[in-house]
Amino acid sequence: MSDIDRRRFLASLGGGGALVAAGSLLETIGYAQASRGPARAFIQPSPVRADFDRRILGSFLEHLGRAIYTGVYEPGSRLADGKGYRTDVVREIKELGVSIVRYPGGNFVSGYNWLDGVGPKAQRPTVLDRAWNSLETNQFGTNEFVEWCRLVGTEPLLGMNFGTGTAEMAVAYAEYCNLDRGTKWSDLRKSHGYEQPHNVRYWCLGNEMDGPWQIGQLQARDYGRKARDVAKQMRVIDRGLQLIACGSSGTNMPTYLVWDREVLEECYDQVDGISLHAYYGNTRAWTGNSSARYLAMNLDMDRQIREVAAVCDYVQALRRSSKRLWLSFDEWNVWYRARSGQAVDGRRTAAPRLLEEVYNLEDALLVGGFINTLLRNADRVRVACLAQLVNVIAPLVTSETGVLRQTIYFPYAWALRYARGRVLDVRVEAETYPIAAAGLQADFARNDQVPFVDVVATHDAASGQAGVLMLNRDLDGDRELVLEWRDATPTRVLFCETLTGPDLTAVNTFDQPRRVAPQRLEPPAAGPRMTFRLPPRSYTAAQLTLTS
Ligand code: AHR
Repeated sequence: MSDIDRRRFLASLGGGGALVAAGSLLETIGYAQASRGPARAFIQPSPVRADFDRRILGSFLEHLGRAIYTGVYEPGSRLADGKGYRTDVVREIKELGVSIVRYPGGNFVSGYNWLDGVGPKAQRPTVLDRAWNSLETNQFGTNEFVEWCRLVGTEPLLGMNFGTGTAEMAVAYAEYCNLDRGTKWSDLRKSHGYEQPHNVRYWCLGNEMDGPWQIGQLQARDYGRKARDVAKQMRVIDRGLQLIACGSSGTNMPTYLVWDREVLEECYDQVDGISLHAYYGNTRAWTGNSSARYLAMNLDMDRQIREVAAVCDYVQALRRSSKRLWLSFDEWNVWYRARSGQAVDGRRTAAPRLLEEVYNLEDALLVGGFINTLLRNADRVRVACLAQLVNVIAPLVTSETGVLRQTIYFPYAWALRYARGRVLDVRVEAETYPIAAAGLQADFARNDQVPFVDVVATHDAASGQAGVLMLNRDLDGDRELVLEWRDATPTRVLFCETLTGPDLTAVNTFDQPRRVAPQRLEPPAAGPRMTFRLPPRSYTAAQLTLTS
């Protein structure tokens, strides 16, 4: 980028081109400001980190729109197997290697009677789903979901109804799924043809119970007491269950952090994790429709993680507890277009087209940024779910004849394939740009300086391979990024591809399925010092062999 272009670019962001000291958030996530020139990333193994939990790369399937029906389950389709599961979707998800899938909601779960979805299909009732004003036929329920999880090689993460549901029925659900035999609910499962218990380990205690939109919304302390009660009873079924309390459903909630504190003051000792949710968009209110600001939004996710973790630690200290809670970022994605009116109203039909967000190139770049954020916070975030997986705000979209990979599929697939083992310590020195501007929503773009590049790296000791994921937020220019490896030396580049293009609004369609797709990027020679030339507005993945 020429100096004149740069000044114009910075001026367009409202910062006048002057660089000011980088804020403490950037320091926390390992960034320091540098002047013009290549960005440098100093990479070394962390003395304290363990392998990250692959559940951080999970996803989510809700009974919503076409996620289940015509998404993963479509009996009668020529693409379905004998049980009605879409084989093309199964193939895609197997290939992705999704680690864990949250189910059945979302808002849906707060009005869901799990008993309607088990037993002989002919006897299951069609009911009105009041969360999305849709018809729910219950032809796909918990047993089909767990069976489908086994088929695609993922782990189920089940949600419980804390809206219309009682504590008794929540615990009955866990008993139905996990108890071997000899009790009312375990024997019911067996009578439905599932001899072996499902052994579901991770459970969400409700969904977004702070939200006025939620069926059966609760006050924080009431929710916290109910979560405590259900958790205590669930421990009788299985002490080792991993239980996730509902945290705030967004940083923009008026009760953000207060909700989390009050809930945890009631149930800290009984739960293991707390949930975080966030959806982002390039809107006038958030970003002033600026793509440069938009590509910085993953730093807001860093902030949210830091703030909720601080509340957890505060309550831990109050309780003199030795237990440290982990975070479950169990809903995150870009979602701002298909978010109102017809896009969220099922008009009392089955499998309506709801929340069918069409993702463009800039959304994919930001999703890459979110993945970087999650990975660098993997010491605190144990579970995270890209919301969602098929058709509904999703990387995969089905038609009668096939399945399409949306733009956001690619960064997610790269993370699943190349981010393995331990997250390495990365200290970045990079030039920054300002994103402050008057009139933006207060919870984003306060006065931050944002680095042009965002980097994470992982190392898998078993295979000796490293993965590096690099976001270049510069809309106009290439950026050089020098990776300086400490303690280990790359000896071979196994893979290097980038997602970029001239048009940030480009999308994939069934007619043009590869308009936005990875391209090979010429990598530097392997060695202790490697200079990547990252194209403008790009997300790049590299896989290297490392020797120490
Ligand atoms: O993922 C779509 C919806 O977003 C979920 O149902 C809800 O939990 C959130 O508000």
